[in-house]
Order: sequence, then structure tokens, then C-alpha cells
Amino acid sequence: MSNKMTAFSGVQPTGNLHLGNYLGALKHFVSLQKKMECIYCIVDLHAITTFQKPEALKSNILETTAGFIASGLDHEKSIIFNQSSVSGHAELAWILNCVSRVGWLNRMTQFKDKAGSDKEKASVGLYIYPNLMAADILLYKATHVPVGADQKQHIELSRDIALKFNNDFNAKNFFPLPEPLIPKKISRIMSLRDGLKKMSKSEESDYSRINLKDEADEIVKKIKKAKTDSKPIPSDEKELMKRPEALNLLTIYSDLTNKSINDVLKDMAGKDFSHLKTNLSEMLVEKICPIGKEIKKMLGDSIFLKEILKKGREKANIRAEENLKKIRDIVGLI
Ligand code: TYM
Repeated sequence: MSNKMTAFSGVQPTGNLHLGNYLGALKHFVSLQKKMECIYCIVDLHAITTFQKPEALKSNILETTAGFIASGLDHEKSIIFNQSSVSGHAELAWILNCVSRVGWLNRMTQFKDKAGSDKEKASVGLYIYPNLMAADILLYKATHVPVGADQKQHIELSRDIALKFNNDFNAKNFFPLPEPLIPKKISRIMSLRDGLKKMSKSEESDYSRINLKDEADEIVKKIKKAKTDSKPIPSDEKELMKRPEALNLLTIYSDLTNKSINDVLKDMAGKDFSHLKTNLSEMLVEKICPIGKEIKKMLGDSIFLKEILKKGREKANIRAEENLKKIRDIVGLI
């Protein structure tokens, strides 16, 4: 096995990149560029596991690409492309469908959440979604996968699939077992309306999230309306842990200011939430608005965005084909 470190991660082009995507994933994609080869994918094949309007999907692929670049990814350094343009993802996914076990997929909590109460009506694609994720990662023999905490179970499944493939085909160490890289401090940003629910693109109320394209006045309004409890800000972390909305706002603030939660609590203890909210809005406007502005600017230049994807596709395809040749041979396909 080579010692080369490669990071792979993906983001679904389903519209409205938000603060959770940024703090949980994109920000870390950017810093990893200094440490290893990075491959970042707009996972359009994952997006279609639930119905997407074709025109909206096309524009969301470009918008997610713009979001990557506006967040600080360097398309010369990292490989940036959309998943469907490299057919090896679908081919390896099929092979891994035959390695992965039904019992493993039945344990995936995200399928249960997304399929809702009527699982019979969910697409088969949604059910086998984690096998496609494993294919994304293993196609490039990625060693590291930067993601938010919600993806942890899927990365563990990718490790199980890699191990079973290596064992079944007597191909010791062929696939490295990918390591999830989950931010320690803030791995799950919660909804602004409910501190027990993840901030998400699919949540109906736009007040539940800060979108990267939000204008300053929208950010201020959303933070002002964010749910809190009626007690003042606590002085100790143990008490904060019992108050989900307060914990969420204070962890976002601590991440944006690069201060520890303890230091933030020292500054804020005893004050009421309006004080925190004013400071938090300022930090968010300073951090998020320039990204949003850049996204909007790039959306006016689809040729530029398509060119980035084309170059990325060419580079990704070379690596994918090289590995697929070996995979076909290992499996016995001629
Ligand atoms: P997706 O598109 O839902 O989210 C993209 C990234 O953002 C992170 N994230 C969050 N982090 C913290 N708090 C939140 N509220 C929050 N919401 C989203 C996600 O953890 C993710 O890192 N299945 C994946 C995409 C995927 C993928 C892959 C990831 C497809 N293939 C291979 C890694 C490797 C997804 O739906 O992410």
C-alpha cells in the first residue's frame, strides 16, 4: 500500500449551501489543501436519490462549484468536479453493491430519517446511497474524508466495505481504510429554530439556517429570531451542555472567533442573549457575506465554472481509470 495521503469529500448540489456545510465541511476542505492531495466532488448522483427538477439541478451543480471556490478552494491545487462526469463512480458503486450487505444498509440511520415513515416509497437509490459514497471514496483510494458528524456512520460503512473487498478478493491492503476527519469543536451545527435538529437545506423554514448567499440584513434578522431560552448565559460548560440552543449559538461564536468555549463563557457569563446575538451577527456578516458575494459574482460566469469542472473531470478520470483497471482485474472482469 502506498503511503500517499489523499482526501476525498463530496457535497450534494441540492441548493442553499449553509453555515453547517461551511463550518462542518468546506472550511476544513480548504485547510486540508496544505496537507495532502485533495479531491472534492459535487455529488450530483447522490442528489438524484430524491427527485430534483432537471433545470434546478443543473444550476445547483454550478452554484455548489461556486460555493467551493468562494469558500477558498483552489481549483489548481485540488481536483474539483461533478460526480456524474466520471463514470467510474457508478461502475465501482455497482461492484460494491455486490460486496456490501443488506444488513449493513438496514442499520443506516440517515436512510431511516430521509425515507420517513413510508420506506416502501423511497427510491432504491436512496437505500443504496451509502454504497455509492463508499465508491466515491475508494475509487481514488482516499485515506482521509473530511465531513460533518452526520456522515460518520457512512464513512464507517465505507471502511467495512473496503475491508470486506480486500478480504474477499485476497487483495490485502488494496483499498486503504478511510479515516473520517470530523471537526472536534463543531461537528454538527444545529437549526436556529430547534437546538436538537441539524441545520439542513431541506428544513422548511429559512429562519432555521444561515445560507451562504444571505445578505447582511437577513443574517441579522435570523440571528435576532434564533431560539434561545429565558436564562442568562451560563458561566460553566456543564450547564451549557444542558441548553441546546445556547450551546449551538455559543459554539458557532467560539468557532468564528477562534476562542475556546471556556473563554467565550468567561466573556459572556451572566449577560443576556441579545449581547451574544449582536456579536454573533457581526462575526457572521464579516465571514459569510464576502463568500455569498463571491458566489453571486461567479454565477454570472458559467463558462468559468464549467471550465473548472471540465479540468477537474479530466484529472479525476485519469486517477479513477487507473484504479478501476486494477479493480476489474481483481474482481475477475475482463
Ligand atoms: P451533504 O451535501 O448533506 O453535506 C455536505 C457536507 O456538509 C456537512 N454538513 C454539516 N456539518 C455540520 N453541521 C451541519 N448542520 C451540517 N450539514 C451538513 C456534511 O457532514 C458534509 O460533510 N453524503 C454526503 C455527500 C457525499 C460524501 C461522499 C461525503 C457523497 N459522497 C463521499 C464524503 C465522502 C452528503 O449528503 O453531504
